[in-house]
Amino acid sequence: MTKQDTLGVFREKILAHLDIRFQTKAPENLYEPIAYILGLGGKRMRPILTLMSVDVFDGDIEAALDAALAIEMFHNFSLVHDDIMDKAPLRRGKTTVHKKWDVNTGILSGDALLIKSYQAFENYPPVIFKKLVSLFSQTAIEVCEGQQYDIDFETRNDVSVPEYLMMITYKTAVLVATSLKMGAIIAGASDTDAEVLYSFGRNLGVAFQLQDDYLDAFGDPETFGKQVGGDIIENKKPILYLKAVDSATIKDRQVLTDLFARKPENPKEKIERVKDIFLKSGSVDYLKRSIADYTEKAFTDLDQISVSGEKKEVLRKFGEKLMGRTI
Ligand code: IPE
Ligand code: IPE
Ligand code: MG
Ligand code: MG
Ligand code: MG
Repeated sequence: MTKQDTLGVFREKILAHLDIRFQTKAPENLYEPIAYILGLGGKRMRPILTLMSVDVFDGDIEAALDAALAIEMFHNFSLVHDDIMDKAPLRRGKTTVHKKWDVNTGILSGDALLIKSYQAFENYPPVIFKKLVSLFSQTAIEVCEGQQYDIDFETRNDVSVPEYLMMITYKTAVLVATSLKMGAIIAGASDTDAEVLYSFGRNLGVAFQLQDDYLDAFGDPETFGKQVGGDIIENKKPILYLKAVDSATIKDRQVLTDLFARKPENPKEKIERVKDIFLKSGSVDYLKRSIADYTEKAFTDLDQISVSGEKKEVLRKFGEKLMGRTI
């Protein structure tokens, strides 16, 4: 099988397993939104990474399906609540859960999805169960911490680049890292290899979130699936903003800080003015370099894992593809 086929097979296995493990039932208003968000698709990157990692260590793919499902359910739970917090109208090209139903439905169906993600671990033997669940819980709490910093930063005007990188490590990168480490645990890899793979995932996860930030401002509305400019409307302070404040002209810096001190009266106009300054100030170039740097760091981790180069190549290819993604 070619490598591309392998990822396709992994995706199919995940979807088939989801069908077995999740069915809607009464009350409809609890389970329909869950079926809706899980059925909207998405890249399924995290569960695919779990299966890829098991494969790298020659483990049993079937044995990893429950963990893969757990991580995809947790991810979808976090998106439903994130869209409420970010007031996002669109997800994967469709109306967000809290807009299609209402905020209370988004809160409760998100909660239920989080609980379902934990239930997915129930069939693992005790030793593996303990390892998986304690990693998962530590990660889940870190995601909450990251999400809180993200919200706190909206109303702060002294956020630094290291603080921003810490925030995205928590809200996004640790879950990517955990997807991979769970595969290593299930395959019985050494603790050292599991840790190095975690570090690979964390660096790749930072690069992934930086690319998400880029697409949020400069993505194609036709393919991105989310509202382009949503971060700008919400006064998020990604690296694009932080670097622009640093290196823009005095006049542009004033315009930026004024625009980010309040909610916009004319969102369209704000988005255009801000994107213009991001480009002029060189912060887009800086962001692109940071994405490449974190991807490179991830590849350095990969070099240290004690499996054949051929096995590692699959993960490297995946990382390279992520850097250039448009969705
Ligand atoms: C979106 O994640 C949330 C971020 C951490 C940026 P994905 O881009 O993986 O979302 P889907 O699952 O493919 O829609
Ligand atoms: C999301 O970050 C991180 C989590 C959902 C935990 P974003 O807010 O940037 O994700 P998108 O852009 O809405 O997918
Ligand atoms: Mg969001
Ligand atoms: Mg968010
Ligand atoms: Mg985003």
